[in-house]
Amino acid sequence: MKIKYLISVLLLTCGIGQTSAAVPPLKGKQAKNVGLASEQIKRMVDDIEKTGKILSPRTTDKNGKTVYVVLEEWTSGFFPGSLWYLYELTGDEAWKNYGIKYTEGMERIKKYTGNHDIGFMIYCSFGNGYRLTKNPAYADVIVEAAKSLSTRFRPGAGIIQSWNANKSKDWICPVIIDNMMNLELLFEASKLSGDDSFRKIAVSHADQTLKNHYRKDNSCFHVVDYDPETGAIRHRQTAQGFSDSSSWSRGQAWGLYGYTMCFRYTQDKKYLQQAERIADFIFNHPRLPKDLIPYWDYDADKIPDEPRDVSAAAITASALYELYTYTQNKAYKKYADTILKNLSGETYTAAPGTNGNFVLMHSVGSIPHGAEVDRPLVYADYYYLEAIKRKHDIESGNGLKLTDF
Ligand code: GLY
Repeated sequence: MKIKYLISVLLLTCGIGQTSAAVPPLKGKQAKNVGLASEQIKRMVDDIEKTGKILSPRTTDKNGKTVYVVLEEWTSGFFPGSLWYLYELTGDEAWKNYGIKYTEGMERIKKYTGNHDIGFMIYCSFGNGYRLTKNPAYADVIVEAAKSLSTRFRPGAGIIQSWNANKSKDWICPVIIDNMMNLELLFEASKLSGDDSFRKIAVSHADQTLKNHYRKDNSCFHVVDYDPETGAIRHRQTAQGFSDSSSWSRGQAWGLYGYTMCFRYTQDKKYLQQAERIADFIFNHPRLPKDLIPYWDYDADKIPDEPRDVSAAAITASALYELYTYTQNKAYKKYADTILKNLSGETYTAAPGTNGNFVLMHSVGSIPHGAEVDRPLVYADYYYLEAIKRKHDIESGNGLKLTDF
């Protein structure tokens, strides 16, 4: 007994026989970047742990203090999601334990039907958690959440209604481009449950969005308002962009990520083509800065004196790594590498202990709402870590490990 015990201690000390979800060890710049991110996010975790509550960090106020939001906000899944990526990138079990705690702390959100954002909320948290732990209870949460999201499907128009009707805007059934991101939850829920209805909803939504959100130049509108019975288009507008006809940077990034992901699940070439067209729009845009970190809207009227949106850049980089794996177009990887390199420099990465303990600076929530202008945002950090993980997957020769169970 004693010998057996000693052998197992020895094996564990040597790292043999340990189960870990970690990627092969990071080296060089990426090790440094993840080290810095770990330091910052550990400070954030420590602050939250002191309160004894499950808090959801989102941004900072004008004094640089961390702002927390309720779990019903669309951003609540990104903090637990970042904890899961840190676990994967470092192999440190402490991150896994925090991932479990802050993921399970938001389980009630699986029943949320107030808008379409449950995909972001549950998939970034429970989706990553399931990918890394295979805890069957997490799969149940994902399927339950897909049922909640499906209540917003409007068969007459073939879309998921993003936001509720808004009288002051004369919107009956508004759909925003961001909604493409919520389809990942549906595709996975079909795989986990064998219920194809979720997947059918996702495909219908992606097809209608492709038809109705995109312009000839492959940029997209932010909001399309539908007649939910007939599918007739009532309005094409913006909520967070510069103008109805402008190209809001994060919206272009959501579309790029969304159509790349739709190709992953369907192998339908029209989604891949759309993703490539969106990439063409972004990377041939005359107002995309040389460092590839876009202004908050490609058509904002005071460029170059307009805020950048680091969140759009981080989402774009992560999407491009996946797009690269389907196309083998080296340009996509090069763009993504350039974005990551620039985000990791001192212009965009915060000094330790500053920036409300978020990793990246200089994102934009919504300029028309005067909200979160030139601030850190929790989702910029999440997609930054995801992009680092994807780059490492590709470069270590193990292939991209996506949330594709
Ligand atoms: N999904 C909301 C946003 O991108 O701001």
